[in-house]
Amino acid sequence: MHFKENFDIPEEIVYLNSPSNGLLPKETKAWRMVWDKEFFDTQGSFRDQQPEFIADVKETVAKFFHSEIKSTFLIPNFSFGYSTLIDLLPRHYSYLVLTDEYPSLQYPIVNRRLKHTVIKPEEHVEQAIEQAIDEYNPDVFIVSIVQYITGLKIDLEFIQRLKRRNPSLLIIADGTQFLGTEPFNFKQSGIDALAGSGYKWLLSGYGNGFLLMSDGLTRRLQNILSDVPLPKVAMWKHKGILNTFFEPGHQETLSHGTLKQSLLKLEELGLENIQQHIQQVTQEAYQLLAERNLLLPEIKEREVRSSLINIQVDPQLYDQLTKAGAICFPRGTGIRIGIHLYNDISDVHRLIEIIDKLR
Ligand SMILES: Cc1ncc(COP(=O)(O)O)c(C=O)c1O
Repeated sequence: MHFKENFDIPEEIVYLNSPSNGLLPKETKAWRMVWDKEFFDTQGSFRDQQPEFIADVKETVAKFFHSEIKSTFLIPNFSFGYSTLIDLLPRHYSYLVLTDEYPSLQYPIVNRRLKHTVIKPEEHVEQAIEQAIDEYNPDVFIVSIVQYITGLKIDLEFIQRLKRRNPSLLIIADGTQFLGTEPFNFKQSGIDALAGSGYKWLLSGYGNGFLLMSDGLTRRLQNILSDVPLPKVAMWKHKGILNTFFEPGHQETLSHGTLKQSLLKLEELGLENIQQHIQQVTQEAYQLLAERNLLLPEIKEREVRSSLINIQVDPQLYDQLTKAGAICFPRGTGIRIGIHLYNDISDVHRLIEIIDKLR
């Protein structure tokens, strides 16, 4: 598959920085230019159609992830949606979280002084999670599907089993470093709330995100809020109680529209094709890095692996790597790369060549 031709990538660059921010498809960029111009045309009517436009984006998001429209919320970023959700849950709830999680996932538990247990993700992280749930009996398990520093990916079949075995446990997941790399069905996932920002693997720039909620959690929250009167004023009459928290104000059409355009593009290219392509390229990278002993020990032997890889070279090589055209980022004990649809095997070979020269 020649996914690369859908993106503007200069010859001298190997773009491996999707875990920081992903590239926008050419078509999405073109759409943004036209939209912004027409939207602010004084004589145009787009500005008045803002609510319908946002409703349309929401429909696209819900279809893309297989969630219910009524339990899909458009948010400006992961952090807003997640912390708003945490604030709606009873304060006595206890949380289970992995060490070194993305700060916006872990810190809201700390700064709100909520009861929590932290466990270290190792090679057998799923086993450790299961044991911790048996031992501490938390009300909520919060987790990034793909960890932002190490690239550790939680087995999604494990999440389904976990939910089946512990139906009352709330599973709140962050999909920001994962969604966009393969097909994903929220309804079947066992996850109660899944939030994400669109600017990385979903190729959608900043300012857009989404929160998807299961029927069970939606009902639980509606019960918790059952004594709150619904807004009566005409302007807010259509809002459900959860919308008043997650979607309190007007949403930006350019950024949410960008998300819609990129989701349509990903659908057109086919998420299964994208998954296959990423797997093939990623496998080559894992193999060449393993031969050089450059993988994190907790990732090396895992069967479930992501396309976010932390290469165990000195993070201080960052400047030289960038100068040589490999766009990446220093994180933790190494250099973080991401392999997305616009990367191919030749990118991996170019990166390995650069690393071999610098080491
Ligand atoms: C695991 C993870 N979640 C979420 C985000 C983004 O969240 P936000 O856009 O709210 O900063 C990132 C960005 O680095 C991330 O790595």
